[in-house]
Amino acid sequence: MPRLSDNTTYYQSNIGHEIMNTHNFDDHIIRYLAHEQAFISGILANQTYSTLIEIGCDKVRSFETAAMNNVKYIGIDVRTKLEEQSKHYFSQCQTSKAFFLHGSLADIDRILSDKINQSERVLCLFPFNLIGNVANISKILTKYYSTGMDIVISSFQIGEPANSIRRAYYQKCGLDIAHEVDDDNHYTFCCNDFQSSSYSCDYILAVADQVGFSVTKTFSTKVFYLFHMVRLLQ
Ligand SMILES: C[S@@+](CC[C@H](N)C(=O)[O-])C[C@H]1O[C@@H](n2cnc3c(N)ncnc32)[C@H](O)[C@@H]1O
Repeated sequence: MPRLSDNTTYYQSNIGHEIMNTHNFDDHIIRYLAHEQAFISGILANQTYSTLIEIGCDKVRSFETAAMNNVKYIGIDVRTKLEEQSKHYFSQCQTSKAFFLHGSLADIDRILSDKINQSERVLCLFPFNLIGNVANISKILTKYYSTGMDIVISSFQIGEPANSIRRAYYQKCGLDIAHEVDDDNHYTFCCNDFQSSSYSCDYILAVADQVGFSVTKTFSTKVFYLFHMVRLLQ
């Protein structure tokens, strides 16, 4: 498999927003994202968490779900253009506890250094196959474990019909898929300046277990899976 780039060139390019453009989402993807929001809302409704962090947040997609559950929201994304738009969405919903931070998922400790305090119970969301942009899952999950957060991973499945749905979606986004890699652990679409994997459930569960996360809630279909993972040592 080609080395996974961080896709920054693609996301910062003129067509980089296409990956999150709702016009490119077919019914399968719309229903996947509806399940994702319902899943997070169900977790936040228990009032266990005071803060939701969404990495790869685009136009702060989960902000309203956090606000409805009276939970502080922090959206993080590599695209700078999103900062202004996020202010617009924050202003439409009466809550002062919402922030957009520019940065990459790998720099979570630096990005959050002064935004979270010890008393906050934090849930961190890897939405809509963001995990598929991560090359070294073990390293990233270890980093997030050490920051003290619980996580939700939302990912496409491998196999059919997920692969066909992703292929059509990336084509609609204008990506010129040159190469596909089919492996036991992942299914990966490759272009010049973009590469996206989906990891198998079993692989993600095995890595999470090694790192020390315990899965407390799951929901899956043949298209996607959602895992709520909590730290074993609180
Ligand atoms: C949630 S991912 C979705 C990926 C896509 N659905 C797929 O199947 O590959 C896309 C969003 O994450 C952001 N993003 C991508 N890589 C990131 C990173 N390393 N750190 C933070 N945000 C990132 C992008 O700017 C974009 O808004």
